Amino acid sequence: MMKKLQISFAFLLSISCAIAFASDQQENAFLSCLLSSEDTTISSIIYTPKNSSFLSVLDFYIQNSQFLTPETPKPKVILTPVKESQIQKAILCGKTSGLQIRIRSGGHDFAGSSYISEVPFFVLDMFNFKSVSVDPESRTAWVGAGATLGEMYYSIYKKNSSLGFPAGYWPTVAAGGHITGGGYGALTRQYGIAADHVIDARVIDVNGRILDRASMGEDLFWAIRGGVGANFVVILSYKLTLVDVPENVTVFSVTRTLEQNAIQLVYKWQHVAPTLPINLTISLQFTSTISNQTGKATINAIFISVYRGGVDELLSVVGEYFPELNLKREDCTEMLWIQYFPFHIGRPIDNIEEFLTSRVPPSKPYFTAKADFAKDPIPEKGLEEILYKLSEVPSLIGQMEWTIFGGGIMEEIPESEIPFPHRGNLFIMFEVVYWYENDTSAVIQNRTNWLRELHDVIGQYVPNNPRAAYANYRDLDLGVNNVEGETSIEQARTWGAPYFKNNFDRLVQVKTQVDPDNFFKNEQSFPPLPAYSSY
Ligand SMILES: Cc1cc2nc3c(=O)[nH]c(=O)nc-3n(C[C@H](O)[C@H](O)[C@H](O)COP(=O)(O)OP(=O)(O)OC[C@H]3O[C@@H](n4cnc5c(N)ncnc54)[C@H](O)[C@@H]3O)c2cc1C
Ligand SMILES: *[C@@H]1O[C@H](CO)[C@@H](O)[C@H](O)[C@H]1NC(C)=O
Ligand SMILES: *[C@@H]1O[C@H](CO)[C@@H](O)[C@H](O)[C@H]1NC(C)=O
Ligand SMILES: *[C@@H]1O[C@H](CO)[C@@H](O)[C@H](O)[C@H]1NC(C)=O
Ligand SMILES: *[C@@H]1O[C@H](CO)[C@@H](O)[C@H](O)[C@H]1NC(C)=O
Ligand SMILES: *[C@@H]1O[C@H](CO)[C@@H](O)[C@H](O)[C@H]1NC(C)=O
Ligand SMILES: *[C@@H]1O[C@H](CO)[C@@H](O)[C@H](O)[C@H]1NC(C)=O
Ligand SMILES: *[C@@H]1O[C@H](CO)[C@@H](O)[C@H](O)[C@H]1NC(C)=O
Repeated sequence: MMKKLQISFAFLLSISCAIAFASDQQENAFLSCLLSSEDTTISSIIYTPKNSSFLSVLDFYIQNSQFLTPETPKPKVILTPVKESQIQKAILCGKTSGLQIRIRSGGHDFAGSSYISEVPFFVLDMFNFKSVSVDPESRTAWVGAGATLGEMYYSIYKKNSSLGFPAGYWPTVAAGGHITGGGYGALTRQYGIAADHVIDARVIDVNGRILDRASMGEDLFWAIRGGVGANFVVILSYKLTLVDVPENVTVFSVTRTLEQNAIQLVYKWQHVAPTLPINLTISLQFTSTISNQTGKATINAIFISVYRGGVDELLSVVGEYFPELNLKREDCTEMLWIQYFPFHIGRPIDNIEEFLTSRVPPSKPYFTAKADFAKDPIPEKGLEEILYKLSEVPSLIGQMEWTIFGGGIMEEIPESEIPFPHRGNLFIMFEVVYWYENDTSAVIQNRTNWLRELHDVIGQYVPNNPRAAYANYRDLDLGVNNVEGETSIEQARTWGAPYFKNNFDRLVQVKTQVDPDNFFKNEQSFPPLPAYSSY
């Protein structure tokens, strides 16, 4: 027994030495390939662990603090390209050296997939590709992959304060990852998701070719609008269509606890929200908390809303549709449309330019999260089970956000229009658990398990064939590809069907066409079909 153990240990050691040696060779080959470039400035975009700023460059766009640890696998090299030719070179050198590529724009990937890999890799960091060019006449904008949502919203606002774009709330989320994975927010029921508004894109493919919509063809153009670009190409920029939003809106945030009939109100919300005028969005945020009346664990159900109109109209609409909410004039505030973004996440609204354009995120929490889609209203018994489960963790540690999809354009767009398939749903659910820097690994494990239990409770009330998930809320619990070697289509389907439903097979076909040798590979990338013969 002992001897066997020693042998296998020695064996393992030799394997890991071999791997380390191989990865050093890959790194050296990659670097010398890059430096062979005619571009004499290329060394100024290359960071290896020997560069003193390596960690600060890596960490700046790590947006989930759980990955800010020494144990998190580090890239061999970070590249921060400032021109397209440097990306072309990076792809070429990645291919010849065998170092895996990870593409990062804003770094908000829930699993850190834009900057973590189990095999030797480099990070292509796109934060310099941040130009936003708005054409108010044609109501379109070209947006660089590295531009943040906040920068994009602010640039649009500056050009015409009555134009907007339907995407997410968090200001530092970048266009690059967000739009290629879907992108929903307060305007989704009215206008659809971010990926629905992409009319052109510039990408670099595995052969280093710079392509636009016309030259990439409709299959690849379809795939990058919801199918996660990093599985196919490097996205440089998107051309987007903008939408009408009034300069001024009226907002409210009204909190009800379980003791204040939250369950009945949430039950009613499910029936009311899809029938409201299309210019009124009422979302729900839930947090675990302690009741200041009973001292016991309870839930805050926060009805948070933006009306694209004035306060009088808002009061009369809510009075008519949802009188139980008992909305009062003093609950309502008129503000600029763009101030709704900080309002929605509970931040001050006064320095809006700073909020939208700062690249320092509002916070960098430690968290893990999941998604669900409710097709039908959840019965009161189900709401009780879900909210009591949520109340099991300490104040603010467990949270959910439910965003309405139903009763609008999301029901009119076919599931196969783009890879994002989650169309005929009533609402999307974001489920999250947080912890703090000082928490022990036992606490973190407990929280992670608790989130899975919450997810199981919710699973009784949402469609399960397949249980849907959202590609922009990457969840490795769904399943992952093999780290080494090939992954079968059926294995990939374990995560692929939840994210993409019936669009999964077409995504595999596009992958097979554009990246048959599987250069753009990660733990949840589409395997190309085997034995593909190119035509
Ligand atoms: C605090 C927070 C709030 C959020 N709020 C919302 C919300 O309101 N609505 C919503 O829909 N989502 C929301 N999300 C999810 C968010 O949309 C996704 O995490 C999104 O993928 C992040 O994009 P990124 O560029 O910032 O992240 P990254 O980690 O850089 O990228 C995410 C994925 O896209 C790939 N990718 C990035 N750039 C490129 C590129 N240039 N070319 C090809 N592939 C690329 C990466 O490789 C990775 O797989 C939120 C996330 C967080 C952490
Ligand atoms: C990293 O260090 C190398 C070697 O000293 C140097 O050539 C390169 O310019 C440095 N990178 C940056 C971004 O400063
Ligand atoms: C701004 O956009 C709105 C909405 O499309 C439009 O009605 C208005 O004419 C535009 N204003 C300017 C100055 O272009
Ligand atoms: C928006 O509100 C501000 C401040 O009340 C006001 O000055 C501005 O005229 C309003 N804009 C429109 C288009 O009504
Ligand atoms: C709890 O206290 C806060 C702040 O004092 C107050 O605004 C809120 O109404 C209280 N909630 C309940 C349920 O009494
Ligand atoms: C909001 O939409 C309703 C119809 O859905 C419409 O009657 C109303 O005028 C709109 N309000 C504003 C301010 O645009
Ligand atoms: C841990 O950190 C959190 C947040 O910083 C703090 O609120 C809490 O009191 C700390 N707990 C302990 C035991 O130090
Ligand atoms: C987490 O810890 C609490 C308190 O110790 C315990 O009651 C609970 O069962 C644990 N939950 C899980 C999912 O491990």
